[in-house]
Amino acid sequence: MTLTKRSLVTIDDLSNGEIEALFSLADEMSDSMDEQFGVCRGKVMASLFFEPSTRTRLSFETAMHRLGGSVISVADARATSLAKGESIADMARVVGSYADVIVIRHPWEGAARVVADYAGIPVINAGDGGHEHPTQTLCDLYTIKKERQTIKGLKIALWGDLKHGRTIHSLAYALAKFGATIHFRSGPGLELPDYVKKKLTTEYTGRLERYDAVTGTGKGRLFPLDAIYITPSEPHQLANIPAVSMQIELKTGIDALYVTRLQRERLSPTDKEQELKENYPVVDKKLLKEKEFERTLVMHPLPRVDELAYEVDADPRSMYFKQAVRGVPIRMALIASLLGTREVSVPEEDNPFVRKVDYPVYRRGFGVRCTNPGCVSTQESEARYIKPEFKIVDYRPLTLRCAYCEHEVHPPYIASSDWHEGKLENKKYHGAGSQWARRIKAENLLIFDSEAEAEAHGFKPGHYIGQRHQDNGKKAGQRE
Ligand code: NCD
Repeated sequence: MTLTKRSLVTIDDLSNGEIEALFSLADEMSDSMDEQFGVCRGKVMASLFFEPSTRTRLSFETAMHRLGGSVISVADARATSLAKGESIADMARVVGSYADVIVIRHPWEGAARVVADYAGIPVINAGDGGHEHPTQTLCDLYTIKKERQTIKGLKIALWGDLKHGRTIHSLAYALAKFGATIHFRSGPGLELPDYVKKKLTTEYTGRLERYDAVTGTGKGRLFPLDAIYITPSEPHQLANIPAVSMQIELKTGIDALYVTRLQRERLSPTDKEQELKENYPVVDKKLLKEKEFERTLVMHPLPRVDELAYEVDADPRSMYFKQAVRGVPIRMALIASLLGTREVSVPEEDNPFVRKVDYPVYRRGFGVRCTNPGCVSTQESEARYIKPEFKIVDYRPLTLRCAYCEHEVHPPYIASSDWHEGKLENKKYHGAGSQWARRIKAENLLIFDSEAEAEAHGFKPGHYIGQRHQDNGKKAGQRE
């Protein structure tokens, strides 16, 4: 498939083949930087950064300048009509008529997707809240690939704020789809969000094991581990690794250690920053003396705070400034291929590390809404036009994944728009844990957040109202 006119909102928008093709183009461009001037002559890139940025914004803008294109930019939301209550959809429509490509960073999760839906031109997500940051992942993978020639079969450790780190989320998916094994170690209370774990285990062919579940206390180890994503060593084996080989797996060295800062701007008012900082993993000279880090690439998306000691900078294993340098050719390759000024076209291929799942979509103007306060679909200015949209990823219990921020919702009530024989007395709603969740055809399914809402839509309580969730221990027919 060609990359021309496409958007990059999540790392899953690119196949492995397309990522590799971008790497080859980036190699070519960095080897002949001066010859690239003119590749995007006459093209305009809009650079919309509604959150602080140094590397991402400047490397995108440098990339466009090196390609001979022009840049228009906004670096402060207060200077735009968003500050007057304008929706990002309206902004996207307008900017889409001025520019040829948009790069957007925004604090709301799913904002880049909305811009891509409305702009009519290619949109690149440069970070949407704590959700994803796919172009940072391209820089990270490109660095690993350049230093280790392959990603498949490598053992990569992801440390730090796994909960809010958008670079972590995109990188974890990418490593899974290239067949790497991932060792997760978070700061206390900063573990991977459930929706990321769920996606890793349902959409990729590896297996996620809680570390202590397999190895007991993990005594004798230098540092604690939350979980390991084990990639299938042979794709057809689907990660059938017994606990014993897992112990062996843990003993050999780490290929890359990727650490991130505490994302303090994403903490909730109830989070205690001081407590989160205590026991936060730190990478320093002493740690890197350990045998398992002998050949480890030390990576960081930057900016760093306290989690990566300056004394590591002189160590040949440190890669973080190289990651930043490589941001320019990677972003040049991406911009030129989305604009179609350099054709990148890769045949579609099956990826043995990715499981193809076709989830039913739930999209209605009423009913269940996303519960993530950081999601674009729940913001006052955006809720006027965004129809909540979900993928139904599970029926036991009924689990919806928001199409914008990907957080999961477990709604309590369901009904069918096609009630029995069309008789009003059969217009009933049921608990989402009842047999009806599977029985009702996806196109007829109505999902509600509350009894009041179901009743507001003319539904009366059915017999299975008590079965809100699969495991709530209530019997069929029991009312709450
Ligand atoms: C990251 C980001 O913005 O998410 N920075 C970057 O783009 N290089 C990581 C961070 O801010 O910690």
